Amino acid sequence: MLSDMASGLQLRRVLGPMHLTLLGIGCVIGAGIFVLTGQAAASYAGPAISLSFVLSGTACVFAGLCYAEFASMIPAAGSAYTYAYATLGEVCAWIIGWDLILEYLFGASAVAVGWSAYVVSFLRDFGVALPASLASAPLAYDPATGLHATGGILNLPAVFIVALMIGLLVIGIRESANFNNVIVVVKVAVILLFVGCCARFVQTSNWTPFIPPNTGVFGQFGWSGLLRGSAVVFFAYIGFDAVSTAAQESRNPQRDMPIGILASLTVCIVLYVAVSLVLTGLVPYTKLGVPDPIAVGIDAAGPALRWLRPLVKAGAIAGLSSVVMVLLMGQTRIFYSMSKDGLLPPVFARVHPRFQTPYVTTLLTGAVAVVIAGLFPIGFISELVSIGALLAFTMVSAGVLVLRHTRPDYPRPFRTPWVPVVPVLGVLLALVQMAALPRGTWIRLVVWMALGLIIYGTYGHRQSRLERHGRPDA
Ligand code: ALA
Repeated sequence: MLSDMASGLQLRRVLGPMHLTLLGIGCVIGAGIFVLTGQAAASYAGPAISLSFVLSGTACVFAGLCYAEFASMIPAAGSAYTYAYATLGEVCAWIIGWDLILEYLFGASAVAVGWSAYVVSFLRDFGVALPASLASAPLAYDPATGLHATGGILNLPAVFIVALMIGLLVIGIRESANFNNVIVVVKVAVILLFVGCCARFVQTSNWTPFIPPNTGVFGQFGWSGLLRGSAVVFFAYIGFDAVSTAAQESRNPQRDMPIGILASLTVCIVLYVAVSLVLTGLVPYTKLGVPDPIAVGIDAAGPALRWLRPLVKAGAIAGLSSVVMVLLMGQTRIFYSMSKDGLLPPVFARVHPRFQTPYVTTLLTGAVAVVIAGLFPIGFISELVSIGALLAFTMVSAGVLVLRHTRPDYPRPFRTPWVPVVPVLGVLLALVQMAALPRGTWIRLVVWMALGLIIYGTYGHRQSRLERHGRPDA
């Protein structure tokens, strides 16, 4: 079964280790740092949001080491879905594949909403005001009371960016990866500029108290706030695993996938901790609950840095576009693999004769993402994305343990170090962060997974390759 998955190449193998690392950074740095950092500092953790980033980054390193072992063993498109299919069986694979829709498709939609906020803010600085009813979601989200109407009609910029990226993905992977490389450089440069230029304006009094006292409610400041903050900003790290979804397009997956995953993660942890320290040092955390907190930070530094404002916004806009693209690409490759295995209709695996991309599934993914991005606010979508990704990380870390036991001799070009400590910590840290998310987010996760099981029972189970041809020997 494992070697069966490592063969069967249909997509073009054009990506090297640098491409993969940039693909990871391209997907990771996005709305998490540019939008959610401020909101999480204002509502949950205060200046301790930088510690939240350390905590969730550490959890990602453990899960990342497990992803790297799997990605090097099973270099096939489909990420955690494929790993689960090879190791834990079809039902677990379906569960994880369905769960990954939250991470990738909903994730792309959330970032598109963040992109829209920066575009609106950027245009406003130049005197162009988009009508509010066409530039914001018709629904707003309050964790305590749920969704309520805003009077808006549609988040048109968010719809636009999803449609544009879907177009690029249909045209082809090489073009898309090159586009991504340019944008990643811009994005990292903008973040370094922000940290480098603003650090000397930090007022250390804004860091006191570093962990604001808890208000009496779980998750509102104090240690529980730091924990909830880490679960919320976990969203900011999502994406390094998208590198593994490009395994079939990688020239030497055995060597390059682990490099791509771990290198992109390390760069992002360092940048996030630096940005959150500088941001909370520039502005009292209570003022950071805005759609464009980085711009608020620059304003606080005073007139000397006014020139940085449009640059940073333009960088954020470019940066968020690449995240939308990579997440959408990850989703289409997962659907492609699920369809190959018979769990989704064959049309999901149809490859375009000229572009050699899975174009039907790309268009279908885009259609759904457009609706979510157009209608829902970022807080609502991103909490669902975080809990979905944390669940996937839990299963991948557990999968490494299972496979070390069931297939100890299978070649592992990259071995997760210190097994079982690393996978066990990967599982535990992910579970602790999940537990810190609000109850409503849990309820939505349960409803989503129940819906997935109903679909599996009525379609996937009957049509699957294993069901029709019997289970081959592992
Ligand atoms: N990590 C990605 C972001 O922060 C999803 O936008």
